[in-house]
Amino acid sequence: MKASVYIATSLDGYIARRNGDIDWLHNPEYTLEGEDFGYSAFMDSVDVIVMGRNTFDKVLSFGGWHYSKPVYVLTSRELDLPDSLKSKVFRISGSPLKVMDELNSMGFSHIYVDGGITIQAFKKARLIDRFIITRIPKMLYEGIPLFDPSKPDWDLNIHSVKEFDNGFVQLTCHPI
Ligand SMILES: NC(=O)c1ccc[n+]([C@@H]2O[C@H](COP(=O)([O-])OP(=O)(O)OC[C@H]3O[C@@H](n4cnc5c(N)ncnc54)[C@H](OP(=O)(O)O)[C@@H]3O)[C@@H](O)[C@H]2O)c1
Repeated sequence: MKASVYIATSLDGYIARRNGDIDWLHNPEYTLEGEDFGYSAFMDSVDVIVMGRNTFDKVLSFGGWHYSKPVYVLTSRELDLPDSLKSKVFRISGSPLKVMDELNSMGFSHIYVDGGITIQAFKKARLIDRFIITRIPKMLYEGIPLFDPSKPDWDLNIHSVKEFDNGFVQLTCHPI
């Protein structure tokens, strides 16, 4: 069973503004014709998505549904789903290890882990095999960090670094 992260951060390491807004990601100047920054290839490589409740609420607020893989929402609360999502979205809870085991027993083999708190919990449990982090040329100065700044040093192997014409820099790395 594998787990990967595919996420965008500001240059100073935030995944969202403090209030959860990701408006800064949707800048038309960032669009490159025919370029999806490896998203489709990444989505093809996973067979299930685990996302934190806050990320799910944000995704729902945009309307529409763009995920082709089943989504398991990590939450300790009830999940009130519209009928259209009842066969696509499921509730899950428990520790990252329990979640991994549960999904493994359902036959899944590669998880896309999404959401700040959720990624930090999976990382702390040493369950993430690969991080694909796209650095956006934008400083936010404050917000929701991808990684908890109070945690100790952490070493990674850089597998590749890709630069895009719009200034995005994408690092693929593996925890040592
Ligand atoms: N820049 C990007 O590419 C990117 C990508 C993804 C998300 N985002 C943004 O990041 C923000 C959300 O991140 P976030 O750090 O707030 O958190 P998150 O990981 O999306 O959600 C955290 C919530 O998930 C639930 N949860 C987490 N672990 C759990 C567990 N083991 N068992 C049960 N429930 C668990 C808890 O909610 P309950 O209270 O329901 O239990 C927790 O408060 C959103 O604004 C989103 O738009 C940005």
